[in-house]
Amino acid sequence: MKKSLGNAGELFPQSVFIIASYDENGVPNAMNAAWAGECSRHEICFNIGSHKTTANIVKKGAFTVAPADLANVVSADYFGIATGNKVNKAEQSGLTFTKSEHVDAPVIEEYPLTMECEVTDVQGDENGARITGKIVNTLVDESILDEDGKVDFGKFKPLVYDAAHMTYRVVGEEVGGAWKVGRTLME
Ligand SMILES: Cc1cc2nc3c(=O)[nH]c(=O)nc-3n(C[C@H](O)[C@H](O)[C@H](O)COP(=O)(O)O)c2cc1C
Repeated sequence: MKKSLGNAGELFPQSVFIIASYDENGVPNAMNAAWAGECSRHEICFNIGSHKTTANIVKKGAFTVAPADLANVVSADYFGIATGNKVNKAEQSGLTFTKSEHVDAPVIEEYPLTMECEVTDVQGDENGARITGKIVNTLVDESILDEDGKVDFGKFKPLVYDAAHMTYRVVGEEVGGAWKVGRTLME
């Protein structure tokens, strides 16, 4: 028996992306974005309201995206509940923000995986926009690489956002090979 939930839109999982940017004075900032995703192999898209981050990205044309992991859950949530319009979140978090070598945006050193992005499209403005960015470079801590030099998400422990319960969950075990387990139904 199924129950109708109207337009609840429970698409799960949602990402927990930490989007970092600089303002016009070079002050670093970071925000949490769950309405975001990889919209093609080398592009990231997100919907963003009227935030300090929005104004920064519109001005600078660049940002970085760090998927949040279990070790960084507290700062990830903090970046989603405090605003850079009122506080220097980089200082308050105690984390290390360094300038990306590829784009005009900061990298948060304590986050093990970061995509450095150039803005390719803004639908809207600093009051709210759908932003697309091209991934120029990906930085990864060696501690989360497997023997083949690929990101090992078992080691990384990425968070996902559970909008139904407003909580964070950890992505877990591997359960089957993609483009593989379905082959049993092709025989
Ligand atoms: C779990 C979570 C997910 C969020 N996702 C988004 C999002 O996708 N888009 C958005 O505009 N705001 C989102 N927010 C809210 C912003 O992160 C929040 O307003 C933040 O204070 C903006 O920071 P800033 O003003 O320093 O840029 C989210 C917050 C949380 C806690």
